[in-house]
Amino acid sequence: MAIIFDSTSRLFTLTTNHSMYQMKADRYGVLLHTWFGMKGSAFDYSYRIAYADRGFSGNPYDAGDDRTYSLDVLPQEFPTYGSGDYRSTALKVRYPDGTSACELRYLKHEIQEGKYSLPGLPAIFTSLDEGRTPADTLIITLEDTRRRFFVHLYYGVMEDLDIITRAVCVENHSDEDIYLENIQSVCIDYLYGDYDLHTFYGRHVKERSCQRTPVVHGIHSVGSTRGTSSHQYNPFLILSGRDATEETGSCYGFSFLYSGDFIGSAELDQYDQTRLLLGIHPDNFCYCVKPQERFYAPEAVMAYTEHGLNELSHIFHRAYRRHLCRGIWTTKRRPVLLNDWEGVYFDFNGDKLIQMAKDAAELGVELFVMDDGWFGKRDLDVSGLGDWSVNEKKLGCTLKELSDRIHDLGLMFGIWFEPEGINEDSDLYRAHPEWAMRIPGKSPTRSRQQLLLDFSREDVRDYIFRHICQVLDSARIEYLKWDLNRSLSDLYSAVLPKERQGEVMHRYVLGLYDMLEKLVTRYPDLLVEGCSGGGGRFDAGMLYYTPQIWCSDDTDAIERLSIQYGTSFGYPVSTMGSHVSHCPNEQTGRITPLNTRATVAMSGTFGYELDVNKMSKDEKRIVRSQIREFKAYYNLIQYGDYYRLTNPDTETAWHGWEFAAEDGSEALLCIVAIQIHPNGPGRWMRLKGLKKDSIYTIDGKRYPGDVLMNSGLLLPVATEEYQSFRIHIAEV
Ligand code: GLA
Repeated sequence: MAIIFDSTSRLFTLTTNHSMYQMKADRYGVLLHTWFGMKGSAFDYSYRIAYADRGFSGNPYDAGDDRTYSLDVLPQEFPTYGSGDYRSTALKVRYPDGTSACELRYLKHEIQEGKYSLPGLPAIFTSLDEGRTPADTLIITLEDTRRRFFVHLYYGVMEDLDIITRAVCVENHSDEDIYLENIQSVCIDYLYGDYDLHTFYGRHVKERSCQRTPVVHGIHSVGSTRGTSSHQYNPFLILSGRDATEETGSCYGFSFLYSGDFIGSAELDQYDQTRLLLGIHPDNFCYCVKPQERFYAPEAVMAYTEHGLNELSHIFHRAYRRHLCRGIWTTKRRPVLLNDWEGVYFDFNGDKLIQMAKDAAELGVELFVMDDGWFGKRDLDVSGLGDWSVNEKKLGCTLKELSDRIHDLGLMFGIWFEPEGINEDSDLYRAHPEWAMRIPGKSPTRSRQQLLLDFSREDVRDYIFRHICQVLDSARIEYLKWDLNRSLSDLYSAVLPKERQGEVMHRYVLGLYDMLEKLVTRYPDLLVEGCSGGGGRFDAGMLYYTPQIWCSDDTDAIERLSIQYGTSFGYPVSTMGSHVSHCPNEQTGRITPLNTRATVAMSGTFGYELDVNKMSKDEKRIVRSQIREFKAYYNLIQYGDYYRLTNPDTETAWHGWEFAAEDGSEALLCIVAIQIHPNGPGRWMRLKGLKKDSIYTIDGKRYPGDVLMNSGLLLPVATEEYQSFRIHIAEV
């Protein structure tokens, strides 16, 4: 059992194979956080807490005249607002009398075999198909000292995966409404230590750049109030020791399984203690919990390793590949696709698509995706969103006819939707303007000249779902791209009373999840790819429904180095939608070799996004061999351990990364020459994940594993700008 409760000291110790987490209900019933980190001896780690009389840090009434006991200083598991802890807190409520001071004390706990799930929300699960992955659940119940209001803290411990999950449920058993103004899913208090906070920031077409800053006094927070997890910041954070590198040092990872507003923060307090919080952003959030009702705060996944950032990523990659992504596509090889978007944009008809599909089939492509522009009146991005009926006039045939012709070529067929979007110039808007998210009497903010539907409303979702099903049922469709092309604003729902308008953002996300759940249940074989103008909703919440997400609208191979590098810290390669596009690149005008575009796209779900009809014979020959190569290396790339070998934002000559089989039997080294210099110095790259005592061959030459890992491989000389190499390393 990974969860041990010592009833004498009321100590909870949670252990995974390599980490440990500990809490203690102390003599006043306050749930203290006593340890998260390296797995050590079974011991009460609360001995580390220094109690002292601290000026201006008050004492709870139950502590009597003990001036050394202060919530302003103590490491706590779920600190609350208003009762003497002046740091950022995990819970702020508003009671019926208008007050907010909340005090929670330990009431009881329950330990269960297996991992909990959460109603209507994504959660890590144990897969049943490959033997049992041990998991246990701990639920600690805290009670409000004033009212019949309870907080259940959920912990999922997955020993072999080295992860611990957290979620929170609040329950109102009083007879009046209680409002939640802030509820965080994770709070970790570190008593001491110098930490760096790693966050992932960006913008449209430049997502998830890494930022590493020391945690200093004050609060450093990142987050989103856009209704999506956003291009700007990602709900994945790392707290590491100052000296942590890819291979060494202690690192904590925190990933939020939520696709809406979030906030992640690190605060260094007056006593040099660090508090890390992660949860729903409070700005657009005020949730009414009615008597006898429950509210669930989304799950967060936590991991610790003392072996550096790469190992931390491996923990998340393994967990997300098999225990977050669901459905047949978790283990079935994903098809190599051709998406028509950058090839033809809105300018196509059925015959044109068939021409593209013909060439694609000859190249070895397996799935043809018709992107935006096939429905309603949609020849530009200014109209038609919401009208999910096939534009047969534009296609020159029915969807079934088109899909049949594509299948006759031996390809699967996929289609684009933006279910949440609506243009004012659409039949749906003309019929139901009140279904769009906008505030009565106020002009809405437009973005890409569109609005969003109020997905918090079941009737709106039902309507859209029905229309999507009609399309999906009308033809053979194996893939669906679920896009969203703007941020939320003008939050308002016509079906909620004024005192519940603060729930709209969260209800929108729950509505999104509800519809995605219905979709994957009704079409279990459908491969759904998430997208939000590229990677604007690239988060672990979406991965529960869509096992891959279009990583970025930037398809430039060199830009992608940094985007995919940043994404790899929290997410596996198998989730990153990545395509070869044409040159000069649409976003940057850069020209890169076709081989390099494939090297980068292969480190993702792999596909093409260009007009294949315009490719030369020679290019087609190269593409054919790229696809063959990708299929040969598929298992290594998708399920192997991914190693970042350099940082493309700081290393100016070469960028390298590697996939190593978990058993160390083979590896694939990928390198891209970012800048070449004639007569330049030699460059070696140290490989990872090999067996030190084994012999490996590279291009017919033999090397011992320890030599490749310690001394490194001498890289070939690049003779062309942006040249890349894929070097296979096989155990003899
Ligand atoms: C978004 C997506 C693109 C494409 C367009 C279509 O920008 O990220 O891949 O689907 O929408 O309008």
